[in-house]
Amino acid sequence: MSSSFAILVVFMAVAPMGMLAPAVEGARTFFVFGDSLVDNGNNNFLATTARADSPPYGIDYPSHRPTGRFSNGFNVPDLIKTTLPYLSPELRGQKLLVGANFASAGIGILNDTGVQFVNIVRMHKQLKFFREYQRRVSALIGEQQTQVLVNKALVLVTIGGNDFVNNYFLTPITLRRLQYNLQDFSQLLVSEYKKVLQNLYDLGVRRVLVTGMGPLGCTPAEIAQRGINGQCAEEPQRASHIFNSLLVSMIEGLNRDIGSDVFVAVNARRMQNDFIDNPQAHGFITSKVACCGQGPYNGIGICSAASNLCRNRDLYAFWDPFHPSEKANRIIVRTIFNGSEEYMSPMNLSTIMELDSRT
Ligand SMILES: *[C@@H]1O[C@H](CO)[C@@H](O)[C@H](O)[C@H]1NC(C)=O
Ligand SMILES: *[C@@H]1O[C@H](CO)[C@@H](O)[C@H](O)[C@H]1NC(C)=O
Ligand SMILES: *[C@@H]1O[C@H](CO)[C@@H](O)[C@H](O)[C@H]1NC(C)=O
Repeated sequence: MSSSFAILVVFMAVAPMGMLAPAVEGARTFFVFGDSLVDNGNNNFLATTARADSPPYGIDYPSHRPTGRFSNGFNVPDLIKTTLPYLSPELRGQKLLVGANFASAGIGILNDTGVQFVNIVRMHKQLKFFREYQRRVSALIGEQQTQVLVNKALVLVTIGGNDFVNNYFLTPITLRRLQYNLQDFSQLLVSEYKKVLQNLYDLGVRRVLVTGMGPLGCTPAEIAQRGINGQCAEEPQRASHIFNSLLVSMIEGLNRDIGSDVFVAVNARRMQNDFIDNPQAHGFITSKVACCGQGPYNGIGICSAASNLCRNRDLYAFWDPFHPSEKANRIIVRTIFNGSEEYMSPMNLSTIMELDSRT
């Protein structure tokens, strides 16, 4: 590769960074909770196999190095506002006021989800870290200012996919499948999810984007393992449909009880369906084949240095067998900001920012 080409690549990768920063008001603190879809490096600090710290992960990140993000470049929270992983030693002093990312790849709503990954930060531990964070910030700016900071913060929560992929559907026969049908299992997940959201509210947060489940059966992994003739796999699709409808009613109920639109449902399935149903219209050549992976649809196993790797990541909706590419994440975030009520209920992030800037 010639050096002028290398410089051009670096320039193009860095340029969008400037466009990212103003997405959320600079002053607004941002907190992230959840799984690998939103983890920005916490698992790098843990003894776990659920990690994205080796090439080609990060190939399109400004540093072109793996960061722990399950993406070729940026993930969804990056495109809203840049924060550090909570476990990073760099997160201290004034940097704490920017926010923190507590997410950990492999976790689910249930504690028995992702047991194979051993040391991951499950949801109750993420909440414990959030309480610890508040104590650290209190020591910095006082308790009262800390409450204000948390009240005004924006929060993103993304969990649930692993409760199916790495629990209910993990093997042909699982304990959870013997215990529950899809409807009852989804009911269990959503009732536990509700406790997590109530906990966050009790800890002082007042604006929470709650992402529903994407079209689980349409990931290259599920198409490869369960899809018939390259179609989206039926049972995981049904799971995401049931889970999402229960989630939306749960959120509506919570907001009604609180008397305020604290929780905002992000219809991730609908957002992703747009480019899964019509990849070409969004500049993709395929939504079925992962950029990085092996076997049918590059959907088997994990993405590693030994995998097939596509040349142009922007042409693929999926980076690896489970995770969208940065390009797809950009489409998702654009819809989070500007989508209609079918995508963002009861309102989109632009409207939230507009409303909150007045108070
Ligand atoms: C997970 O484990 C923690 C700690 O043991 C417990 O407090 C929490 O209630 C459990 N959550 C679920 C959903 O079982
Ligand atoms: C949302 O729409 C507004 C107005 O059309 C535009 O200025 C802004 O860049 C959009 N935001 C995103 C993230 O696409
Ligand atoms: C979402 O955002 C756009 C652009 O900022 C705005 O025009 C639109 O009315 C919003 N839609 C809803 C349903 O809030």
